Amino acid sequence: MEIHIVTDAAEGARVVADVFEKTLRDAGDTGAVLGLATGSSPVPAYTELIRRHREEGLSFATAQAFLLDEYVGLPAGHEQSYHHFIRDNFTAHIDIDDAAVVSPAGDAADPVAEAAAYDARIVAAGGVDLQILGIGSNGHIAFNEPSSSLGSRTRVVGLAQSTIADNARYFEEAADVPVRALSQGLGTIREARRIVLTASGEHKAEAVAHLVEGAISARWPASSLQLHPDVVVVVDESAASQLE
Ligand code: F6R
Repeated sequence: MEIHIVTDAAEGARVVADVFEKTLRDAGDTGAVLGLATGSSPVPAYTELIRRHREEGLSFATAQAFLLDEYVGLPAGHEQSYHHFIRDNFTAHIDIDDAAVVSPAGDAADPVAEAAAYDARIVAAGGVDLQILGIGSNGHIAFNEPSSSLGSRTRVVGLAQSTIADNARYFEEAADVPVRALSQGLGTIREARRIVLTASGEHKAEAVAHLVEGAISARWPASSLQLHPDVVVVVDESAASQLE
């Protein structure tokens, strides 16, 4: 793994944006296939990429993008859907074709079939060139919580009670809070040709230590990234504080 320990969010955003920019330039007219994450960790990098698009002409016009995950039961237009989040925080502000930004259909009549179809769509696009990831404090990546199979594919997963409780504040009725998600599996994620994972803060330090130096184990799902040949980890000093 290539580890970058950065001094602040702005430096981390520049390092991650540089990895994106190289992927976009290497792909040229063929168009890069980007794997996008939601959550707070990638937002500074998305903001930096939007700036480079506006001020430096960085173009995403030929790119495609696949999201990592989506809540089961939420239509794409729902304010709390990841489909909505990624447009709001990133893709509506660059020149990527909106139809080229794909997420698992949370409102699919048959979520199990949708999961299989999603993997097939990624393969048909030629696979992901660059996947950006955040990491949960328990070591999850996407919605692969501890005990996820290291070879898992895109599938329907139950959300941890703590995640459901955390999300309740975004919904008017408790009954509306999603309890399941469609998530790329650990095996799916590792098929990306390059991965960049970004994390900040003391609460991520233990997970980052297991990701980089721990035993490969379903107990810390991100540790499975040690099996991948090209992972860039961008962390601040707090998130790096438990590295040896
Ligand atoms: C996001 C995702 C999650 C987050 C993780 C970290 O699509 O799948 O695994 O990357 O929960 O979240 P933040 O970045 O908000 O700390």
